[in-house]
Amino acid sequence: MNLIKKFLAAQAAVLALWAAGAQAATDEAIAERLKPVGGVCIQGQECAAAAPGAAAAAGGARSGADVYAKFCTACHASGLLNAPITGDTATWQARADEKGGLNALLQNAITGINAMPPKGTCGDCTDEELEDAIQHMSGL
Ligand code: HEC
Repeated sequence: MNLIKKFLAAQAAVLALWAAGAQAATDEAIAERLKPVGGVCIQGQECAAAAPGAAAAAGGARSGADVYAKFCTACHASGLLNAPITGDTATWQARADEKGGLNALLQNAITGINAMPPKGTCGDCTDEELEDAIQHMSGL
């Protein structure tokens, strides 16, 4: 084998290795791009198919303040649709007294009540996250 052929063979070997490596990286990248954006969770079951931001599966619950700021503030900051207003602890206390405590309010928040949508539109919130948000809003 003369020098030029040797040189070309070495080049080809390097190119082949590089191509194999590039292909492996590409397969991973493709799998990453093809995976579904969200997942379906069934109420009452452990949610394995974590949608982005699904706190339960991702570990670490969101704070009451975070959930409130993202999902509840639209109505509860201003009292839109007669929602009890954030920080108006007397009104929240009256509701809690009337309905049997904070837990009763939580249950209504989970199922929805009148113009209040189920889970306050935070579909992937855990009960604990909703409870924290309610405590944050009500000061109770
Ligand atoms: C689209 C508007 C809207 C959003 C968003 C919303 N709420 Fe409400 N909420 C209401 C209204 C209206 C009421 C009053 C319902 C009634 O008693 O007629 C209410 C009432 C409540 C109550 C009291 C329930 C009771 O039994 O008196 C709780 C607790 C509550 N909301 C929690 C939340 C939480 C937590 C969030 C965010 C995760 C949230 N809400 C987001 C409109 C909203």
